[in-house]
Amino acid sequence: MTVAYPAPCDSLDINGVYPPQHDSQLLIDTLEKSELVAGRRVLDLCTGSGVVAIAAAELGAASVTAFDICPHAVHCSRGNAVHAGVEVNVHVGSSPGALDYAPFDVIVSNPPYVPTPPAGDTEVIPITAGPPGAWNAGVDGRTVLDPLCESAAGMLAAGGSLLLVQSALSGVEQSLESLRSTGLKADVVAYQCIPFGPVLSARAGWLEVTGRIQKGCRIEELAVIRADKP
Ligand SMILES: C[S@@+](CC[C@H](N)C(=O)[O-])C[C@H]1O[C@@H](n2cnc3c(N)ncnc32)[C@H](O)[C@@H]1O
Repeated sequence: MTVAYPAPCDSLDINGVYPPQHDSQLLIDTLEKSELVAGRRVLDLCTGSGVVAIAAAELGAASVTAFDICPHAVHCSRGNAVHAGVEVNVHVGSSPGALDYAPFDVIVSNPPYVPTPPAGDTEVIPITAGPPGAWNAGVDGRTVLDPLCESAAGMLAAGGSLLLVQSALSGVEQSLESLRSTGLKADVVAYQCIPFGPVLSARAGWLEVTGRIQKGCRIEELAVIRADKP
């Protein structure tokens, strides 16, 4: 979680949703380089502003379905897709709802993954970071990652692929193991190191005290995992 990533925001309504940041852009860049999308059925889980779903549509997806648990994000992403001139079918909900629309050839996701202190601290985090539901993910950062990794294989068509972005602070190995345990071939395909943004900066003391980062570390590593279904 870090400073706003300027490029994709210009044409998007990001009022009250997660403003696209380095993780959004790393996922879009990886999606584009993968050449997985053209002519295929894409699912964007945790769509927020819809920035990744819109990118998939612009890359030539046969269809793009998107889900977000937040009704405001669904409203916002629908408007952004219309404004971008692409078709994205956006629904309120999460993996269980998406299963009704499966199978998909490609699943992309930038879920909430930031480890969150049990006492809560959202009042000290600037509103520009987006709504807390976009990043808070329990003490281990895995409240959304775990069900997503467990359910991805069931939503993918044979030959389909998941691209998932997360922080190294929320257990990349755990995601890989979880995905592999469901029969997917999973590996990290992209990394990026970025300076702490407002959320992690506010949590740096707690992250240090709990041993999640070394004292003075203010760099976060993002990883994109690709998981393929045979
Ligand atoms: C980090 S933002 C990502 C937004 C956008 N995809 C991007 O890359 O910029 C995460 C989004 O996930 C949504 N969300 C949180 N928990 C969810 C869940 N269990 N299922 C679906 N969406 C969820 C939040 O409302 C938020 O819009």
